[in-house]
Amino acid sequence: MKPDLKVISRNKTEHRQPILEVRNLTQIFPAGRTFLKVLADIQLTAATGELICILGPSGCGKSTLLKALSGFLSPSAGEVRLSGRPVSGPGPDRCVVFQEDALFPWLTVSENIAFGLKGKVRDRRAVQREVDRFLSLVGLTPYRNFLPREISGGMKQRVALARVLILQPRVLLMDEPFASLDAQTREEMQNLLLSLWKQLSHTILFVTHDVMEAATLADRILVMDKNPGRIRADIPVALKRPRHSDASEFTRFCRMLHEGLRGQFI
Ligand SMILES: Nc1ncnc2c1ncn2[C@@H]1O[C@H](COP(=O)(O)OP(=O)(O)O)[C@@H](O)[C@H]1O
Ligand SMILES: [Mg+2]
Repeated sequence: MKPDLKVISRNKTEHRQPILEVRNLTQIFPAGRTFLKVLADIQLTAATGELICILGPSGCGKSTLLKALSGFLSPSAGEVRLSGRPVSGPGPDRCVVFQEDALFPWLTVSENIAFGLKGKVRDRRAVQREVDRFLSLVGLTPYRNFLPREISGGMKQRVALARVLILQPRVLLMDEPFASLDAQTREEMQNLLLSLWKQLSHTILFVTHDVMEAATLADRILVMDKNPGRIRADIPVALKRPRHSDASEFTRFCRMLHEGLRGQFI
């Protein structure tokens, strides 16, 4: 029997305040003499504190969707609302973490984490207190004076996380942030993200093309199709936390996702 990936009721979302709403979002890019419709009629609602994974094959428009949510890209049609207000550009209430760290190579770990607070918080001691708190949250206190080139890829992504979380964004947008890490480091980062999410209660939209990653992290998985990019299924994840990748229900769920997506992934 074919697994059913149809839209399933979003019981969790219905109870909580929506923080992010996307209505009829379409994104078209010029391509030579013609146009390329990359996103078609995307509808999405994220409840406050929800952790949503956006799962889809390479080239289906995941990064384009995140750019539209962050406000770096204006939609060709439709709109994005944050707490009821239309998003018209980038803002500190939405932060993005990318696959490749974008740390300043000449600044230390501490200075990178403090960077976004400069100019916002005048009191230097208050900045230091916040930096210390976030260094500790991501487990980098002993590395505070290291430069990015002196730390590993996983540690760089911890710095990347800390430097956006310190800004207390309402929505954290993550674009395949752990995709270039080795398996063990990726698992550590997933656990770290879940523990930070539990402590700080952010709303997170996490893009991935990895079924197991989505099943490990998400409250809800939005599955995308390509050409044009659409949300094909909205799947609540009922697996209890903490989730263990060797548990039979976890494996069953991943198999269901894989089977439903067969032929979709590259
Ligand atoms: N600024 C742009 N101009 C033209 N085409 C673009 C632009 N950004 C992305 N695309 C195209 O949109 C499609 C989706 O890209 P992307 O959002 O990066 O996919 P994903 O992140 O799912 O791999 C690709 O075909 C890509 O070439
Ligand atoms: Mg991408």
